[in-house]
Amino acid sequence: MYSNELNAIKKSNIFRQKVLYDESLLDLASNDYLGLSSKFALLTRAVSRLKMFKSHAPKASQLVNGYHQIHKDFEEFLCRHNGFEDAILAGSGFLANLALIEALPRKGDILILDEKYHASGILAGKLVSAKVVTFEHNNPEKLEEILKNSTYKKAIIAVEGIYSMSGNLLKKEIFEVVEKYKNTLLIVDEAHSSGVVGENFLGVFELFNIKPQLNHIKMGTLGKAYGSYGAYILSSKHIIEFLQNRAKSLIYTTAPSLIDIELAHQGMLFIMKNKKTLHAKIKKRQELVKMCFGIDMLGLIFTYEMNSSTEVLNMQNELKKRGFLVGAIRPPTVEKPMLRVIPRVNVPLKDLKRLFYVYM
Ligand SMILES: Cc1ncc(COP(=O)(O)O)c(C=O)c1O
Repeated sequence: MYSNELNAIKKSNIFRQKVLYDESLLDLASNDYLGLSSKFALLTRAVSRLKMFKSHAPKASQLVNGYHQIHKDFEEFLCRHNGFEDAILAGSGFLANLALIEALPRKGDILILDEKYHASGILAGKLVSAKVVTFEHNNPEKLEEILKNSTYKKAIIAVEGIYSMSGNLLKKEIFEVVEKYKNTLLIVDEAHSSGVVGENFLGVFELFNIKPQLNHIKMGTLGKAYGSYGAYILSSKHIIEFLQNRAKSLIYTTAPSLIDIELAHQGMLFIMKNKKTLHAKIKKRQELVKMCFGIDMLGLIFTYEMNSSTEVLNMQNELKKRGFLVGAIRPPTVEKPMLRVIPRVNVPLKDLKRLFYVYM
């Protein structure tokens, strides 16, 4: 039925497969930036907390009777630390982006996406009745041109804190441009910046010292630096109320898993308690990348572009033989094939040095 399409994918060397992770390899491919996914003490703590309740599963949508004290505690924790009025949790970052980008732009509005915005947002953009445009990646002037030259009831702008595939840090000037225009909403997807940048590892709002405004929306995921699964949306009470009533991927789905939410909560507490050590470890990795490749890695994503998908796959296989697992990212996920290397804090520096100095 789909043979022609599948054959074409195979021929271009971009065929995707699920491969069981070989635990003997050093993991430089996942988004477990701080190594929390193997901190079993956090899981034990989360399980103990869950045992204080009558059930360990949410059982229903959070808008029926699936909303649990564990959700509420985490939402309040997130609001308190990030300085937002209100929060709502989502089953995953994909579902959170679907909620925001499908629900917020209404007829007469304009949705303005960074051209490198995550696939979940691009997909959701296809479902809206508002006008949808993209702007040149991380370019505040191009964003301003659109805002200046368009007519709209509201403009909904979506950007990422740290871009997932390039590791580029959001330009602070984007916030300044949005502030100049009335009737704007700014969505910042912090999937790869929360847990990685900022004094308490809260992401780019904290890094840039930006006090959240009523038109700011922050989305963060729990499946990356926080070593769990799920996502959160932070914004004004008004926006959360609207999402609760209109965002289908929050309403018509079982409430986020309780163990995952509690685990992420424990993960964030751990990060805040150990922030000094974690900052020092990240700095060492950033200095190493700078020394070896002359690149300013502002988060923990380092990319290495290559000429073809075949070359990228060959290099990935060569590195596997030497004990390293790195990401081989190919079109259509990115324009140019590349290795995506995550120098996670629990990969020893001596191994990273061996990888960078000897093999790359
Ligand atoms: C920038 C960005 N946003 C959203 C998502 C989706 O998050 P999740 O994996 O929790 O669905 C991802 C990653 O998968 C991402 O990289």
